[in-house]
Amino acid sequence: MRVEIVADADEMGRVGADLIAQALSAKPHFILGLATGSTPLPVYRELVRRHREEGLDFSRVITFNLDEYVGLAPDHEQSYRRFMNENLFDHVNIPLAGTHVPDGMAEDPEAECAAYEAMIEDVGGIDLQVLGIGSNGHIGFNEPGGSLASRTRQVRLAQSTVSDNARFFASAEEVPASALSMGIGTVLDAERVVLFASGENKAEAVAAALEGPLCAKCPASALQLHPDAVFVLTEDAASNLALEY
Ligand code: GLP
Repeated sequence: MRVEIVADADEMGRVGADLIAQALSAKPHFILGLATGSTPLPVYRELVRRHREEGLDFSRVITFNLDEYVGLAPDHEQSYRRFMNENLFDHVNIPLAGTHVPDGMAEDPEAECAAYEAMIEDVGGIDLQVLGIGSNGHIGFNEPGGSLASRTRQVRLAQSTVSDNARFFASAEEVPASALSMGIGTVLDAERVVLFASGENKAEAVAAALEGPLCAKCPASALQLHPDAVFVLTEDAASNLALEY
C-alpha cells in the first residue's frame, strides 16, 4: 500500500488535491466518492482554491458521498448533504444534480440503499473514493463487527462513534442512532481509494488498518485487499506504524 506522510493539515490539503486534480484532468467525466468529517476539509478547501484561482473544472464531475445520518433532513445543520454543499459544492462549478448523498429521510431506507448502489453501477463505478477513518477503525459508517463484503445499507452507529461525533451536536443524545452507509464492498469496488487521517487519536486505527490482521474489528483493514489504496497521514496519525513506507 502507498503511504504518504505529511507535516500538517495544509500539506494534507495539497497532497489530496493533487491526487484528485490529476485524476480529474486525466478523465473529465469523473466519478468521485466523497467523505465528510473534519479530516478531508483541508482537501476540499484546496480544491475550492484551485477552482477559483486555477480554473480546476468540476463541470463534468459526478459525486457519491459515503453516508448520511438517518432522520436528518438535507438542510439540518449536521446533515452530510449540508456539510458537502457548504464545504465544497457551493464553491465549485459542479452541477448539483450530479451530487449524490444518501437520503437520510427516505421512507424506505432499504429501497434508498438499493437505488444508491444502482446509481453508482449505472455510471460505471467510482473512480476515486475519498475516505476518513473513525478512531475505532470505521470507514463511512461501517462499524467494527460488520461484514467486510457489505453494500450500501442502514447501519447502527457504535457507541464510540456517537461519543466521537457528539462534539457536533448539542449532546450525545442528539446524535442519530443510525445512518445509511456505503458498504465495505462498495468502497472496495472503487478504482482507487485515498484515506486521510490526522491526529494522534487516529494512530491506533491507522496502524490496525495498514498493518493489523484483516478483520472485522478494524473495518478499514479491508483496504489491504484493495490494489490501489493510498493513505495520506500526518506524522502523529502515522506514529504507531511499525513498517517503513
Ligand atoms: C464520521 C464519518 C466518517 C469519518 C469519521 C471521522 O463518522 N462517517 O466518514 O471518516 O467521522 O471523522 P473526522 O474526520 O472528523 O475525525
